[in-house]
Amino acid sequence: MKKVGIIGVGEYLPKKILTNADLEKMVDTSDEWITTRTGIKERRIASSHEAASDLAINAAKEALKDARLKPQGLDLIIIATITPDMQFPSTACLVQANLGAKNAVCFDISAACAGFVYAIIVAQQFIARGTYKNALVVGTEVLSSITDWDDRSTCVLFGDGAGAAVLSEVKSGGILSTYLGSDGSMANLLMMPAGGSRNPATHKTIDKRLHYIKMEGNEIFKSAVKIMVDTAQIVLKQAGLKCSDVDLVIPHQANVRIIMAMAKRLGLPSDRVFLNIEKYGNMSSASTATALCEAVKVGRIKKGDIILLDAFGAGLVWGACLIKW
Ligand code: ACO
Repeated sequence: MKKVGIIGVGEYLPKKILTNADLEKMVDTSDEWITTRTGIKERRIASSHEAASDLAINAAKEALKDARLKPQGLDLIIIATITPDMQFPSTACLVQANLGAKNAVCFDISAACAGFVYAIIVAQQFIARGTYKNALVVGTEVLSSITDWDDRSTCVLFGDGAGAAVLSEVKSGGILSTYLGSDGSMANLLMMPAGGSRNPATHKTIDKRLHYIKMEGNEIFKSAVKIMVDTAQIVLKQAGLKCSDVDLVIPHQANVRIIMAMAKRLGLPSDRVFLNIEKYGNMSSASTATALCEAVKVGRIKKGDIILLDAFGAGLVWGACLIKW
């Protein structure tokens, strides 16, 4: 098996900023409630001509530049998204065409907020076995397109963005250990009920507002902390490392209270946890992806550091990846 590492990162955030003050004018909420309950101050909203592939392409170009790799050098493109441009073809194929990555095999992964971690681990398998050499993995979401802007319990939480990583064989370090988990018995806690084969789009599904995110946030909250702690402990044990060996945790950015409860249980000081939720809210698969990119850009990740990616989301699904940078 070959060692696999991340050799380039990139991100793209739409220009439009929606603040908590803006939301106060749209639904019965307050900056105080949103800040104390979630840690979110503002989020980005894609323009009407920006779809998931557009965000992904911008993030991918930055990651390819960072990796010093031409699009033709890609053998594999995996896009993690729950807001694809359309049901089919895959958003990965649309990204491929735009980049001119004509040698790449392309497909999407649906693993909600854990999508970027899932995609990294899938890409790692192909590279480790020598099937493919260079992979582009992108978490991209236009959650504003499936957000019910009349529902205060969800609309304050989500935002749009994309983050990308290029994976390749590395001589030293790289991905040390990985873990994925799923529990479909909790699928009802977070879903978009219509638009698939169960409830195809009709006037009735639109009138019932079934094409929007429905979430039982409270129930997810209860599982989230335990899932993230258990997942972190599993990958650390597999790698023969302790929490104190971790230089930086890049968690899924669903709620700052979930993240800080996780850090406390793991015995990690808050300065070893990277946050961007304040600026962007929950961007599903794009949250861990952009957080990783920004941590690199601001110098929070240095060569030799031990990095823990830890995410969970609708499914429920979860996953973690321990990386020596
Ligand atoms: N502004 C003001 N009040 C609000 C708002 C709002 N935006 N939203 C809800 N409330 C009210 C509720 O109506 C309720 O009022 P009541 O007590 O009078 O009934 C009160 O605030 C408390 O509501 P809760 O839902 O209990 O609030 P909680 O503290 O649980 O916070 C939250 C809600 C932020 C959604 C939290 O439960 C959470 O973060 N859950 C996890 C979400 C998550 O991780 N999702 C998975 C990833 S997303 C993905 O996979 C796409």
